[in-house]
Amino acid sequence: MFLVSTKNCTNAAIEISNKADLHFIMTEVKRFPDEELYVRIVESVKGSEVIAIGNTREDSEALEFVLLLNALRENGASKVIAFLPYFGYARQHMIYKPGEAISSMVLTEILSKYSDEILTINIHDNSTMKYSEKKFRVISMVKPLAKYFSGNDIGMVIAPDDGAMQLAEEAGKVLHVESRHLDKKRIDSITVSYSEAKFNVAGKNILLIDDIISTGGTIKKSIKILREMGANKIYVGAIHGIFINNSGDDIAGICDELAVTDTIYSRYSKIKISDSIEEIMSEVV
Ligand code: R5P
Repeated sequence: MFLVSTKNCTNAAIEISNKADLHFIMTEVKRFPDEELYVRIVESVKGSEVIAIGNTREDSEALEFVLLLNALRENGASKVIAFLPYFGYARQHMIYKPGEAISSMVLTEILSKYSDEILTINIHDNSTMKYSEKKFRVISMVKPLAKYFSGNDIGMVIAPDDGAMQLAEEAGKVLHVESRHLDKKRIDSITVSYSEAKFNVAGKNILLIDDIISTGGTIKKSIKILREMGANKIYVGAIHGIFINNSGDDIAGICDELAVTDTIYSRYSKIKISDSIEEIMSEVV
């Protein structure tokens, strides 16, 4: 089995190829003078199974990934597994306002056209899986994330909203503590409001957990509420750290520690996906 990746995922891909002893295929990626993207695999993949690693966080990376999948198919790969550490565009998985496009459906349909299987890590909403004609699996990195904080005497795991409650429950089980969620209402893409929480965090060390940190608005507001409620230490964990406008630094400045995985690499990527290699490989073979 071979492994290949888009440019943004090279570090994680090389670590995975070393740990799983997979041959890493080089690519040539460039832009034509008119800025159109060009992707070529520089070794033969004829008759081989290939894991292609790429995120769809940025538009250009999504296109690079689709072109890469097509290059593998066109050059004779016997099986193409599309592995997206971060499945971007999954937050719009349904129509909220008339006239909207369903981005997660569009992307999934394209990925399933150019690959034989799709694998990702903690997708924003599992309902995206229904848009795929091919096998689509989701791995959870909550366990290693929770274990990272296991030495911090965590007294409760809190999700910033009910959508992240499943992650909080999973982390709570790992840490053998209770899990609860705050009641978030999203006003717009950067503003959120909360109603009063009906549980007690006073004096407890809290692990605040979410799937994605983007602008950081959700987590910053949640930290403020937990502080007002008398929480002792507040640790923040998330699977995917997008950290728009340096929001990672803002959050790190107001909590006791911030840690995310390296699905999107940043200075707060303290949990490596390559450390979960056994689980990843058990899903692809
Ligand atoms: C929302 O449903 C997600 O789980 C996250 O809470 C959200 O994407 C975080 O966004 P932001 O950091 O911009 O508040």
